[in-house]
Amino acid sequence: MSATERVVGWESPSNIALVKYWGKHGNQLPMNPSLSFTLKNSVVRLKARYFPGNSDSSILQEFTLNGSQNQKFLNRIESFLQSQKLRYPFLNTISIDIESQSTFPHSAGIASSAAAFSALALVLETLNDTFGKKSSSQQEFFRKASYSARLGSGSACRSVYGGYTVWGSTPAVTNASDDYAIQIDSNDIHPVFDNIHDAILIADAGEKAVSSSQGHNLMQNHPYRNSRIIQAGKNLETLLYALKTGEEQLFVEIVENEALTLHGLMMTSNPGYVLMKPNTLLMIEKIREFRLQTGVNMCFTLDAGPNIHLIYFDKDKRIVREWIENNMKSLCCNESWIDDGLGEGPIPLTF
Ligand code: DP6
Repeated sequence: MSATERVVGWESPSNIALVKYWGKHGNQLPMNPSLSFTLKNSVVRLKARYFPGNSDSSILQEFTLNGSQNQKFLNRIESFLQSQKLRYPFLNTISIDIESQSTFPHSAGIASSAAAFSALALVLETLNDTFGKKSSSQQEFFRKASYSARLGSGSACRSVYGGYTVWGSTPAVTNASDDYAIQIDSNDIHPVFDNIHDAILIADAGEKAVSSSQGHNLMQNHPYRNSRIIQAGKNLETLLYALKTGEEQLFVEIVENEALTLHGLMMTSNPGYVLMKPNTLLMIEKIREFRLQTGVNMCFTLDAGPNIHLIYFDKDKRIVREWIENNMKSLCCNESWIDDGLGEGPIPLTF
């Protein structure tokens, strides 16, 4: 490392939405409020080396993901950094190299952009503490990071915190905002939802045909747009109630309703499209069958892709894992599934 070179880094997780952000307006503002929990094992570690001076007009000189250069991500991050020069004037005076590592395969369909942009936003806020106006509290630091993360990728704003998070203004949560996410107070989460698990079952590892950005755009003129906004608000309110009171069955109902609604909205867009694969449906059927037979309150959710996030409670860990191994693994691509669950949020890296 040269005398003028400095390093800063953050490890930040992905998150899984239980009430889905789907549709946006203005500058990355959500069409409806969303709620997610932050994952534990699916993380991106992002290390930024920065140097004084811009050799050319670009800020980001190099970007690697898991050791390989990634031009697509480099371009996306570069245009994000360019757009942040007003908020972070120090970006006019430095160049940055980024090395990032993700713990999950790209094919898993886990939102790597949520983990990457939350890590990057935390890096920018850390630099801002040095070069700009230092945050007066931890809360302000993470709120500002969440704001920046949102501008990179909407769902990323929920990843700067651990636990359960809400993004988007709603009368159900005081202080909730369209501009940044906030963490739900742990007193409002019943112990049954502590250590909740997420088994990510890889139904298909192929590249998806329609990106999330295209999907968000299709919500603008969607025939169900207004009813979706109302439904998301109600689902969020009901889910908050279930999280507080520990009503598992209500939780299951809302989570599955949100997953199927998301894919229903995709299918009824113009043009409509389907991201679920035959094994997605087979898995859904098996999950519901197992729940009916055993009374175990597990449920599924889906991101904008074909893979199942099987959500289950800590008390059912043994029975559910055994069932996954014996019944679901064979349906997974390369028999692969990812054992994840509720995490505590990003951590700064030391070098
Ligand atoms: C289906 O956050 O990836 O995962 O803001 O365009 O980057 P951009 O979209 P993105 O959308 C994620 C949508 C979702 C639901 C959710 O995470 O809430």
